[in-house]
Amino acid sequence: MSYTPPHQASPKVVWHHASVTRTRRESQNGHRGAIIWFTGLSGSGKSTLAHAVEEILHQRGCRTFVLDGDNVRHGLCGDLGFSAQDRHENIRRIGEVARLFMEAGLIVLTAFISPYCADRAQVRHMVATGDFIEIYCNASIEICEMRDVKGVYRKARAGQIRQFTGISSPYEAPENPELTVKTGTVSLEACAQQVIGEITNRGVCTL
Ligand code: ADX
Repeated sequence: MSYTPPHQASPKVVWHHASVTRTRRESQNGHRGAIIWFTGLSGSGKSTLAHAVEEILHQRGCRTFVLDGDNVRHGLCGDLGFSAQDRHENIRRIGEVARLFMEAGLIVLTAFISPYCADRAQVRHMVATGDFIEIYCNASIEICEMRDVKGVYRKARAGQIRQFTGISSPYEAPENPELTVKTGTVSLEACAQQVIGEITNRGVCTL
């Protein structure tokens, strides 16, 4: 079956159906496309974990791609700041890009704070049930701040970064994620294996 968009945002534009469908791409790849959505505070280990999971999947022959907040904000979302409205637009764009990559048959791993439940739910509802797998990287603000790999917490405390998540801007933890990983206290290898287990159990790939 060929893909149709869930909503008609541009009524004057007619959707063009591809003959090489997602299903055909997936059967060529030998695994499903999916969006693995990592959410958590800055410094909670989202990017590190997403890349570790990608490494395992890649070595096993899966087609993958990581979309990372710190990189995407230099390009596609370079015009956006950190107000609630800009974060909403950031996540909306990432959601659209992730959906396209998934349609291309890839396992897309996204690493964005994505602090608002409503924004994550919007992406979840853009795709079919089972396509969006939410992974909550649960590390406390104390641990993230202690690590402060990028020095951003120090700047936020000094008032040099405003609207900083966890300090002067909210983080809404997921209520019902597919998986919670304790990235503040459990090793990277163990967290990566938990994610791989979740992806496998949900039938994205067989490993
Ligand atoms: S999101 O909230 O819109 O999802 P995103 O994941 O793209 O955020 O970017 C987060 C990264 O931007 C952080 O890891 C941090 O390095 C940097 N950053 C700069 N300013 C802020 C801020 N006000 N709040 C959070 N992160 C910020």
